[in-house]
Amino acid sequence: MNGLLRPNKIAVVGASATPGKIGYTVVKNLLEGGYQGKIYPVNPSATEILGLKVYPSIRDIPEDIDAAIITIPAKAVLPTVDELGAKGAKGMIVITSGFSEVGLKELERELVEKANSYGIRVLGPNIVGVLSNSDKMNGSFAPFLPLEGKASLVSQSGALLIAIDAASYIRRVGFDKLISIGNMSDVDFADLITWLNEDPNTSCISLYIEGFRDGRRFIEAARNANKPIIALKAGVSAHGAAAAASHTGSLAGAAKVYGAAFQQAGVVQATDLNDLFNRTLSLSLQPPMKGDNLLVITNGGGVGVLATDAAEKSGVPLKFAPADVQAELKKHMPEFGSAKNPVDLTGMAGTEWYQASIRFAFAHPWVDGLVVLYCETAMTDPLEIAKGIKKAIVDSGVTDKPVTVSFVGGERSEEAMRWLVENGIPAYGAPDLAVNAIAALREYARMKEIVREEAMPCLAQDRERALKIINKARSEGRDSLTEIEAKEVFECYGLPVTPTRLARNEDEAVALAREIGYPVVMKIVSPDILHKSDAGGVRVNIKDDAGVREAFKTIMKNAKEYKATANIHGIAVQEMAPWGTEVILGSVNDPTFGPTMMFGLGGIFVEVLKDVTFRVAPVTSSQALRMLDEIRGAPIIAGVRGEAPRDRQALADVICQYSTMILDLADEVSESDANPVLVYESGKGLKVVDARIILKKK
Ligand code: COA
Repeated sequence: MNGLLRPNKIAVVGASATPGKIGYTVVKNLLEGGYQGKIYPVNPSATEILGLKVYPSIRDIPEDIDAAIITIPAKAVLPTVDELGAKGAKGMIVITSGFSEVGLKELERELVEKANSYGIRVLGPNIVGVLSNSDKMNGSFAPFLPLEGKASLVSQSGALLIAIDAASYIRRVGFDKLISIGNMSDVDFADLITWLNEDPNTSCISLYIEGFRDGRRFIEAARNANKPIIALKAGVSAHGAAAAASHTGSLAGAAKVYGAAFQQAGVVQATDLNDLFNRTLSLSLQPPMKGDNLLVITNGGGVGVLATDAAEKSGVPLKFAPADVQAELKKHMPEFGSAKNPVDLTGMAGTEWYQASIRFAFAHPWVDGLVVLYCETAMTDPLEIAKGIKKAIVDSGVTDKPVTVSFVGGERSEEAMRWLVENGIPAYGAPDLAVNAIAALREYARMKEIVREEAMPCLAQDRERALKIINKARSEGRDSLTEIEAKEVFECYGLPVTPTRLARNEDEAVALAREIGYPVVMKIVSPDILHKSDAGGVRVNIKDDAGVREAFKTIMKNAKEYKATANIHGIAVQEMAPWGTEVILGSVNDPTFGPTMMFGLGGIFVEVLKDVTFRVAPVTSSQALRMLDEIRGAPIIAGVRGEAPRDRQALADVICQYSTMILDLADEVSESDANPVLVYESGKGLKVVDARIILKKK
């Protein structure tokens, strides 16, 4: 990877003497960027390009090379690999388009296989190239190296990378490296995260993602990184949810599953391109925010209120500072100022008040992060205020807390913010942006606290029994399990299901009901009747033998009327579980991430309310507890209106267990639901009342 991304000797295969061609631009860019290594242009007919000697073929290059930038048409690329291998190349930066993106998957696969057989890694094809400020290497056809900075960006879109390159100067967001990843035939996001994590010139890894081939590789690489990673995921709308057979299947969209994966990988998300710039700036310049106490210092009430709103929205709501903090801050403001939070120094605030309050507050143990706001006034010089802020931060001696700044004003404020960014302090033109930027540092710290936790081992007590049940259904030509079968599979993995047994006649039903204990529930069991209530196939709260007999007759009659041809296995008799809070657990086999777990408020309105959240399996205990807090209905689990809190720990444990089950049965189960699951008060556990498993088609 070093040979590929930090080469000392580069061949440009397809270098051209014709201005305007990509092969010309790449050579020109390498020269203009100030690349210090050796450049070997390769072209069969030219002799000199931009003052450089040209080699008719790779074989003619007089020494070994590290990497080749490829700018020849697709059909000519494969034959170059043997020659590059012979020259000891470690990397191919394949700018050329016309591979898998136009359907030529085989050509791309052959290229990678052959290259890898020589130990050559392939970046691309279909890319803009690689740009690196610290190596003064513009190995691309983007116009120039980006504004210098500490973030490195990997982009799946070439055009966007070029746009970000140019925009870096306007946005004041600096990058060390811009890497175009294109078709990801070989080098993928996971490889680049791992490599950039070791790169001394990168402090934050910024990603523009359209899709992964292997989501789990990404999660693993990101989890192991110790630098902040921020991702903008595009194309979240057109994915997977179509034609789902379960509730979970219909609720799992790309946005939710990718969002879940980012949580588990410790990756901060950007909502849009602006957000990617803004958050990249703070994540690349400032340390993580290790606690929730955010203090805002301002000279204007209005921007203070905007910051307060933004703090709530971004998940770091402001709290009043403790009395001792307020008392000290009061000394640096007029009588009519406010030392609460936001700390309003008032429009009279000059550099000294800013400095004194920042120096004190930043060093105070209660403060975990600081946002400084400034509205341009006639009595103050923005640049002087900016310098005062920086000095106060330095004087405080604190280096492990973050600060962001917003100046609202005209050209003088712009100039002051430029100065701040150049001096390592992220500065933004609006208070909500400064708050959102520091919230990214809080999110990052929160995620990192739990991201390395390992999941529980699989508690599969009886995988063989589960497979037997599944295989029996398959042998009958079915691709879904009945409720009884699904519950048995759940049972094999220790999930708390209500005892449910199959009765084929009235007498059996009575015997089972007595065994289970009254009251009982009775439900039709037929692979042809999935929506049992709609078919009049469910009776609840049956209290005695006579009730069982009556229910048996009615359910059978209803089922036959509903679907005369239905294959009826019999009637399930099950324990009537006491009332509890209804939640849903479920799973999908996501095309990118594999087995993925869902949790949400359950019952019949689940698809209307869509109050659900996801995690890629296996789910760790802390992630499961987080899931409980993520849904809008979280207070219902916590206990509302005098109700005792629900058994959170038992619920979290079952989520973990369920997730290990779907991982263990990944080759068999396509989707599943446990809905409803009744959750009881703390200490009393939960019960899976209904279950559904859809099998993978084989
Ligand atoms: N070794 C060395 N040079 C070779 C060669 C070989 N095996 N085969 C061809 N060349 C030379 C050609 O003679 C030509 O040089 P010239 O200008 O002196 O005639 C040069 O390489 C380029 O070949 P050419 O056939 O003129 O192709 P092109 O420049 O029109 O297009 C690409 C080549 C790679 C730019 C084009 O195929 C392509 O993929 N364009 C899209 C790239 C892109 O947008 N990528 C990013 C997407 S985000």
